[in-house]
Amino acid sequence: MIVIDQSNRVFTLHTRNTTYQMKADRHNVLLHTWYGPRICGGDLSYLVRYADRACAPNPEEAGTDRTYSLNTLPQEYSTCGVGDFRLPSIELELPSGSHTCDLRYAGYELHQGKYALEGLPAFFGGEPDAQTLVITLEDAAAQVAVELYYGVFEAFDLITRAVRVVNRGCEAVRLRQCASLCLDFLRSDLDLITFNGCHLMERCPDRAALRLGVQGAGSVRGTSSHQHNPFVILCDHNANEDYGLCYGAMLLYSGNFQVQTERSQYDNARLVMGIHPYQFCWTLEPGQSFTAPEAALVCSPSGFGQMSRQLHRAIREHLIHDPLEGGRRPVLINNWEATYFDFTADKLVEIAQTAAPLGIELFVMDDGWFGKRDDDNAGLGDWSVNLEKLPGGIQAIAGRVEHLGMKFGLWIEPEMVNEDSDLYRAHPDWVFRVPGRSPARGRNQLVLDFSRQDVRDHIYGQIKQVLSSAGISYVKWDMNRSLTDVWSAALPAQRQGEVYHRYVLGVYDMLSRMLRDFPGLFIEGCCGGGGRFDAGMLYYTPQIWCSDNTDAIDRLRIQYGTSFCYPVSTMGAHVSAVPNESNGRITPLETRGVVAMSGTFGYEMDLSKCTQEERETIRKQTAFFKEHYDLIQRGDYYRLSDPFQNGPYTAWEQVSPDGSEALVSLVTGPAIAAPSFLTLHLKGLDPNACYQINGQGSYPGDLLMQAGYPLPLFCGDYQSLQLYLSAI
Ligand code: DGJ
Repeated sequence: MIVIDQSNRVFTLHTRNTTYQMKADRHNVLLHTWYGPRICGGDLSYLVRYADRACAPNPEEAGTDRTYSLNTLPQEYSTCGVGDFRLPSIELELPSGSHTCDLRYAGYELHQGKYALEGLPAFFGGEPDAQTLVITLEDAAAQVAVELYYGVFEAFDLITRAVRVVNRGCEAVRLRQCASLCLDFLRSDLDLITFNGCHLMERCPDRAALRLGVQGAGSVRGTSSHQHNPFVILCDHNANEDYGLCYGAMLLYSGNFQVQTERSQYDNARLVMGIHPYQFCWTLEPGQSFTAPEAALVCSPSGFGQMSRQLHRAIREHLIHDPLEGGRRPVLINNWEATYFDFTADKLVEIAQTAAPLGIELFVMDDGWFGKRDDDNAGLGDWSVNLEKLPGGIQAIAGRVEHLGMKFGLWIEPEMVNEDSDLYRAHPDWVFRVPGRSPARGRNQLVLDFSRQDVRDHIYGQIKQVLSSAGISYVKWDMNRSLTDVWSAALPAQRQGEVYHRYVLGVYDMLSRMLRDFPGLFIEGCCGGGGRFDAGMLYYTPQIWCSDNTDAIDRLRIQYGTSFCYPVSTMGAHVSAVPNESNGRITPLETRGVVAMSGTFGYEMDLSKCTQEERETIRKQTAFFKEHYDLIQRGDYYRLSDPFQNGPYTAWEQVSPDGSEALVSLVTGPAIAAPSFLTLHLKGLDPNACYQINGQGSYPGDLLMQAGYPLPLFCGDYQSLQLYLSAI
């Protein structure tokens, strides 16, 4: 609910459990006055204190009042070069050469329903779900307007933000920075949690108290990256899963991003998040506008668990476009770790034949089906089927798979090209390449200039033809290198600062076209594993391959870190063969199943090599997953332990929204002799209900949560346990 006190110019955004407030003050500066637990309202600007701080400049309107300074006041959207020395949200380059920006309140609009952003991903919601507030700020001297968009999803404690900058003058203005989110706090005793990693080990949480100065994360790789994720948490020093105030902030963007926090001189804190200013410069001709990607905030007054559950629900219900319209997604088998590039149609069909009777419903043909693609040195860019490997083309292999009662899916990597390809030989100028330099290779491939419409049209035409040629219900859209040598032959020198962002817009455009032309198509995102796992991609691709690391034990950490923002239903997770390809570890098949079914669930191994006993285990796993699909994929998620603590086990739990059923999953670490007796405390149950566990007994919910469940003694490394609870 948005409440506007017009006479005091106070804007209050209430969600079910939180309140956010801004106020246009006497000098028309938009102050940020509150974000935290829900309060009744009123004017929170009494919290803002004024003092004559040396070296804190005073704007002209303040006259001789030396207590009024932009440098000490909590700003809603911080400016640049006019008296606030903390992190800026915006930087302009004006015709005069000045880089300043000074913003004053100019008006507001209130709308029912959620705003949308053209060409950019955004949470969606109609009238009953969301409201929109647009506050306009103006820089009168620069003749630039900055519109701040707020989407309020009351039931989800979610507040979205976006920013549109309009050049209202009659000369070009250049935008050097345009953050999506600025959030000031009248306190600085906060911890910052970022999610970091590398290929094979993505999204590991890292927590530290804010120190004086600037801390943050970001990416200049052209993707959101394995290295850092565009999601961070700011929280009380003592916040944990169940306790303490915390703020989750995400950026719905899949390219270069920057998130910075600053603990300032006077113990205030600021969070700024948006497109990375690195090599960013956008020219706005008179009348033109620029829209920064959406950011979203969830505040939880009661710990990380509640924050994650709100984010998960909001992402599932108001961000993801589900082509299956709530239907169950098929359990899949992917041939990558089974065959790599070395396959024939018969080999693939053999894997599918073994998979079908085990309850697996979708066969995904991974890399290697097109062009001269026998290894990763050739073929990218030539999206026509390799008839030597696949006689009869896609139609024939898809038909054989469908004949087994399975659906068929296909891997593509549209953004890339190998020098050894017909496409590159015909259009060497279509790749990112700086004049006079040879571009760096990554996985021996170059990056196509997707900022260009003609390049996108060509690639899309080829891929559309393939997708139209057979019954393809699923596409895995991969992207296997970071961007370098970013320079576009299609733009003049002074607009090269637009290329990184135009590339991302190009990727979004391609995905939108594909979804428009193939409405039932399900796209899984991928980027050398989880190198582009962000809310921007989730708008187009309801699930994303979480990591190339399929080892169940490493996955406990990767999926744990990922779960702070992203729901189980978004995390691509497969059972693969042992010893694992990434780290050589051997884990039981049962354990691999338990971990993979806490994601989107599939297999990635040559099932024809499995013993009868293993096949029986797989059959039971797929049946169990299908039976409990809704609970696993849409249940409320509880982290019961932290795998980074190296405890005796990692456990997590899904609970149905009405508390009538729950699934507890647990994986142990390396075995030790003479282990202790352990008790697991469950969460989120109905305290007044009694539950059967795996069809037996009668356990009161409050006992399972307060007194706990006694775990059996485990024997052997990396054992697993699943407890299915149903209220009786
Ligand atoms: C990287 C992906 O993450 C893998 O799953 C696989 O699709 C390979 N690329 C194929 O090249």
